[in-house]
Amino acid sequence: MIHPVIMAGGTGSRLWPLSRQLNPKQFLKLTDSPLSMLQSTVARLEGMDTDTPLLICNEEHRFLAAEQMRQSNQEDVQIILEPCGRNTAPAIALAALQLCQSAGDENPLMLVLAADHLIQNVNAFQQGVTKALPLARQGKLVTFGIVPHQPETGYGYIHQGTELAADCFSVDEFVEKPDLETANRYLASGKYLWNSGMFLFGARDYLAELETHRPDIVTACKAAMSDASEDLHFIRVNSELFAECPSESVDYAVMEKTDKAAVVALDAGWSDIGSWSALWDVSEKDQNGNSLAGDVIVHETANTLVRADSRLVATVGVDNLVIIETKDALLVAHKDKVQDVKTIVEQIRNDG
Ligand code: GDD
Ligand code: MG
Repeated sequence: MIHPVIMAGGTGSRLWPLSRQLNPKQFLKLTDSPLSMLQSTVARLEGMDTDTPLLICNEEHRFLAAEQMRQSNQEDVQIILEPCGRNTAPAIALAALQLCQSAGDENPLMLVLAADHLIQNVNAFQQGVTKALPLARQGKLVTFGIVPHQPETGYGYIHQGTELAADCFSVDEFVEKPDLETANRYLASGKYLWNSGMFLFGARDYLAELETHRPDIVTACKAAMSDASEDLHFIRVNSELFAECPSESVDYAVMEKTDKAAVVALDAGWSDIGSWSALWDVSEKDQNGNSLAGDVIVHETANTLVRADSRLVATVGVDNLVIIETKDALLVAHKDKVQDVKTIVEQIRNDG
């Protein structure tokens, strides 16, 4: 049986003003689906031999997470609450420790998923997990690699090595977020995949590799977890002890360093919707390339994304814009510059 572990602790700041500190990206409905990103992540597992998901998110979002899981009929869900964000390496370590606790000598297989990804072809995703299973059972740390079509700098890249089985490769090198020149070189070589940030591995295999490369993280997570308290769905780790934990991503802490990495190539219509232009890329558009949601009127407007939440929004004679209207904030940005939205969020935080 596979144990899905869903990481839902991110801030999604590049999707401001819709994504907010109290209601970040993973809890939003961003596409045409009636489900939030988190709920879609759970729905994607339907039909697979999986246990009830284990969620891990910030304490601040506990009611949001529990309510969305109730709506998705996941009454037995367990939610690990982080008192502060320490990035993904500690988050996965907490989940691994929790799963090992009730596993005796077993090595529970964890399918680590991000709560904020879009996957259009669920079948291909499930087949990818099936391909990864034998590798994970052999002790490999399997990551899912996406065939790149453009030189993105917001993703980790995986240099694929020898073929181990159909669509399964050893990992020659793992490079987290290269610069544009490097990303272009990787794309041209045809030998690189994007790291999707989804993984399949044994909980004990992950902890052992983390112990080898970042023993300080294992020590801090064990301490915080050994003093955790449980009520209802929630597992609360000790906040003072977890605050001592170094902040590091799983990519830097483990995947870049381990010699046990393997990659399964996945072609499943994957996107992490990391920015407004990424949402425009995947959404349905009119004949002028406009993606419109809410009360919107456009005239001589092209390749523009407009979302109106509370008012009528009209555009005349513009192109390549992103316009996001919410009750208390309005964003107007050039579609090529939307990565910089997070600097606005930083500014608001500093001023506030
Ligand atoms: N519980 C928890 N706690 N979850 C977290 C935390 C945390 O402190 N920090 C991030 N997450 C969750 C986010 O909600 C998201 O679902 C996932 O972990 C990945 O974090 P991001 O912050 O979105 O990472 P990224 O996009 O910069 O990079 C990662 O994902 C890319 C693909 O989307 C890396 O794995 C890249 O290599 C990868 O290409
Ligand atoms: Mg991301």
